Amino acid sequence: MLHLQNVSVTFPPDVRALDNVNLQFRQGQFTVLLGQSGAGKSTLLRCLNLLQSPTQGLVVGDDDQCLSGLNKHAPRLRQHRRHTAMVFQMHQLILRQSAVKNVLVGMLAGQLAYKSLMPNTKADLQWAMHCLERVDLLEKARTRCDQLSGGQRQRVGIARALAQRPRYLLADEPVASLDPGTANRVLSLIQKVCDQDQITAIVSLHQVELARAYAQRVIALADGQVIFDGPPNALSDEHLARIYKTNQQTVNASDDHPSIPKPPTTTPKEIEDEIQLAQSVQRYVGSTVLRPGHDQHRQCRQQNQS
Ligand SMILES: Nc1ncnc2c1ncn2[C@@H]1O[C@H](COP(=O)(O)OP(=O)(O)O)[C@@H](O)[C@H]1O
Ligand SMILES: [Mg+2]
Repeated sequence: MLHLQNVSVTFPPDVRALDNVNLQFRQGQFTVLLGQSGAGKSTLLRCLNLLQSPTQGLVVGDDDQCLSGLNKHAPRLRQHRRHTAMVFQMHQLILRQSAVKNVLVGMLAGQLAYKSLMPNTKADLQWAMHCLERVDLLEKARTRCDQLSGGQRQRVGIARALAQRPRYLLADEPVASLDPGTANRVLSLIQKVCDQDQITAIVSLHQVELARAYAQRVIALADGQVIFDGPPNALSDEHLARIYKTNQQTVNASDDHPSIPKPPTTTPKEIEDEIQLAQSVQRYVGSTVLRPGHDQHRQCRQQNQS
């Protein structure tokens, strides 16, 4: 069971992004992290796959194995990352590549460098197509992602995560840039596939209504602290006022009702992370996934033409 024990994260000079957080995540549970911008949601998610190391406390993975403090090449950490898929707000797809190529990238997650240099096999391609079928996008498999709608792109992102055969799915504001109808469809899809595969889903959101509709468990954060942990029907107006009024400055600057917070802003660090991720994915795709001349590439072209 994934477990955070007394986890704190302090960024220099003294930003306390997480403050003594203790949480356990039960297998197969759908958890929503709720909190206004700056509450610590992204930092918590990043701790769960050790993209962010806690400054204090421990991250404990399956079989009670401690994951924090390990070298990034440690087999235990690599295995944890292989089992942990991410879905991002801006889906992080390579827009000029097809949906299926983007899904194939998900299968490289956690693989050793030499393996990622091997061409994809027919079985890889079949698995990627199966994942696209699960998000109802089989007919768009060969379509370039820049020709897909926002909701379809996010579904490709979900298929890419599924391609990894994850045990954990971490989604950071996966519907923040979608209209309400599409947001509902995408969340309901995440919920369905995670339920079918008994994937432990931890999804950060800023919309209370969506948390109420989809979460089995809500964890609310404010100023890096857990201020609510329970079923969504136990969230009271008082809790909501606490969640969204904690940062007095933000609330004063907004005329909105506290239960309808402003959408999150992207921090420069997140933008930098997104660029780095896109560049590393680009490197993989440019050099390894279905290079011209590979059998699979020819096969794709033939199928496209037929
Ligand atoms: N790399 C970083 N360096 C400095 N401060 C950071 C960094 N990442 C996050 N923070 C700060 O930590 C706090 C929590 O941020 P974050 O986890 O991104 O919150 P959320 O995802 O809920 O908006 C914020 O005050 C944010 O400015
Ligand atoms: Mg965030």
